[in-house]
Amino acid sequence: MSATYTLDTSTSRANPTPAPMRRLTIPSIRARKVDGVTAEPIVMLTAYTARQAQLLDPHCDMLLIGDSLGQVIYGLPSSVPVTLDMMIAHGAAVVRGSYHSAVIVDMPFGSYEESPAQAFASASRLLKETGAAGVKLEGGAAMAETIAFLGARGIPVCGHVGLTPQAINMLGGYGPRGKSEAEAAKILADARAVADAGCFAMVVEGVLPELADTVTAAVACPTIGIGASATCDGQVLVTEDLLGMFERTPRFVKRYADLAGIIGKAAAEYASEVRTRAFPGEDQLYGKRT
Ligand code: KIV
Repeated sequence: MSATYTLDTSTSRANPTPAPMRRLTIPSIRARKVDGVTAEPIVMLTAYTARQAQLLDPHCDMLLIGDSLGQVIYGLPSSVPVTLDMMIAHGAAVVRGSYHSAVIVDMPFGSYEESPAQAFASASRLLKETGAAGVKLEGGAAMAETIAFLGARGIPVCGHVGLTPQAINMLGGYGPRGKSEAEAAKILADARAVADAGCFAMVVEGVLPELADTVTAAVACPTIGIGASATCDGQVLVTEDLLGMFERTPRFVKRYADLAGIIGKAAAEYASEVRTRAFPGEDQLYGKRT
């Protein structure tokens, strides 16, 4: 019997996962930025399902199970109601659907802010039950102790500064942050704090380009921009935004496709054919009627 895959049984620490399971690692993502320079920008997209992961995986360095799934998948009003169980279910699906990208999972609101110990309990569940390689959490200096605590215990953390959507009830909207000098200085200090705490990368969301450039130059780890600047060390978008699944295109999004239009057209054609009994046709039937 010929083997269709091989298991790495070389050492007790080998990953006994069928080849071609050659994922990018978190250290390899961190190592993209050397002495402040990232020669090859990091490509990250959100993914929530196995099939979506399969389609995106060959093109990405990182897949993020974003808590934006609250709005995108579940129709929730914000990411605030998203639970750990939701993140685990979708995280496991994305890991199953990918073999190349490093996969990271968002820590949902309420699962990490209370204490480093609470964050460790939540993050270890996320890694154990999804197979993801790291977590992302929102916040600046207030989260530095937690990021260091997780890192020291084997959990790589991606930071997230600037616009932090889980704080929507404090912010009052999703507009760009750091417009005033004081707020820009706070965001820069937050970025420095999470970088110094050891995060392997950080998302910089919804800030003016000059501030994103300053943050990128100020921190050793890679910055991943969204609504930020092309000089960030990488970029991330919510996949449904770039696919054109929604009617309004926010300024920071580029629509690379019109999936909403394609889906609407296909559904309209199907509905019309069902109503006129044109579907199913002969080709869709198991054999000819006698
Ligand atoms: O939840 C999310 O999808 C995110 C990205 C937009 C960075 O945090």
